Amino acid sequence: MSQTLLSTANYKGTRDFYPEDMKIRNWMFSVMRSVVQRFGYLEYDGPILEYFELYKAKSGEEIEKQLYNFYDKGNRHVAIRPEMTPTLARMVAAKLRELPKPIRWFSIPNLWRYEAPGHGRLREHWQLNVDLFGINAWTAELEIIQIACEILFAFGASPEDFRVTFSSRKILNQFLKNSLNLNQKNEHDVAKLLDKKNKISKEEFETQIIPLLPNKQKDLDLLYKFLSSSINNISDIHGITKEVLEEVQTFYKAIQSLGLDRTVFFDPSIIRGFDYYTGFIFEIFDTNPINKRSLYGGGRYDNLVGLFSNEQISGIGFGLGDVTLLNFLQTHKLIPSFQSQKGVFLGFLGESTYFPALSIASQIRQAGILCETNLESNLKFGKLIQQAERKNYRYMLILGENEMQNKKVILKDLSNGTQTEFHQNEIIEKLKSLEL
Ligand code: HAM
Repeated sequence: MSQTLLSTANYKGTRDFYPEDMKIRNWMFSVMRSVVQRFGYLEYDGPILEYFELYKAKSGEEIEKQLYNFYDKGNRHVAIRPEMTPTLARMVAAKLRELPKPIRWFSIPNLWRYEAPGHGRLREHWQLNVDLFGINAWTAELEIIQIACEILFAFGASPEDFRVTFSSRKILNQFLKNSLNLNQKNEHDVAKLLDKKNKISKEEFETQIIPLLPNKQKDLDLLYKFLSSSINNISDIHGITKEVLEEVQTFYKAIQSLGLDRTVFFDPSIIRGFDYYTGFIFEIFDTNPINKRSLYGGGRYDNLVGLFSNEQISGIGFGLGDVTLLNFLQTHKLIPSFQSQKGVFLGFLGESTYFPALSIASQIRQAGILCETNLESNLKFGKLIQQAERKNYRYMLILGENEMQNKKVILKDLSNGTQTEFHQNEIIEKLKSLEL
């Protein structure tokens, strides 16, 4: 009886990372790491499984709908992390007193959301999280935006390739409350609808929003005026306090001083889905319209640590997703070719050369150079070359019986076929000069 074969397809919305994909992923993570570490951020990590209630309090309805959650064998209600911020807030709260301030931390977790997969959206993605706790001032906002931009510059992007938009939750809240005179319930519902605005048609948006507005069309006109305000005329909108206006204006002046105003723009229409944001919010998009999903999303959250501790500490940070970042890097042709394999392939011919070849390979590795060998001693010369070529090595060392007897070795450059012979004592020196 023949056995039914299992499918090799992976689970919907996830990716398999073959070695060539891992090369790109590792490269992406190492660029991210090197930038944030240069700003003094320390790496942390947490569990992939958390108590369900961690996401109930502040993440918002959308995330709750997307949670992968289940009861474990001890009947505990658990969820796979859909985002890192609640875990981070929990970890910071647990050691708040002993942590030196300001706290600058980063992590690159994989996250799970039950979404309809599409371009830039999957069910499992990796997300660089960079967060700063303990400074509730525009200087922290500026550092976070600077890091976000520096990461893209480190990948080789130019300021025209992406667009940072920022606003403040306080502006939105004050507008809804003071200008439209909404009660708390309608304020919340209008904010949710605004967050969905770009995903639904204009008619659908208006049909849903008008019943929530006390003065119907008049309020809708006001709302459109608010949404299209710039940094220069946002002060014309009634109901926003001088203090809050000053906050965004001071931040924007600092952006201008850094010369980032070609890239960073005020946009009151950004909302951010999470309920925990309390002040500054921002998103970053590719300027190429092929990639519509945000690269980054982030903001300030004042009350998240307070869920776990009587002491409050304000946090600010962002998430940068690997799916949208990869699309961005591909679109702007910023992925280097990882074509040639670093290091050297050491091929030995004949059984008697096996142990001498192993000893040469060890010496090469001890010198910090990658060295891969064949494992069959009966390979013909042509097959040996083919093995090294298919693995994309540029350089190959060859040890046949003749070379072994004369304490020699052959170095072959597979890119042009040239070869040289030299004494085995010189191997390390020669390889080092090739900068493998
Ligand atoms: P978020 O806006 O949900 O924020 O996600 C941040 C970024 O992660 C998005 O801009 C996108 O690049 C990526 N992302 C999110 N969901 C998916 C998905 N299903 N597939 C692919 N990429 C995705 C947060 O998660 C906040 N916790 C970020 C934060 C950190 N705020 C403060 N600190």
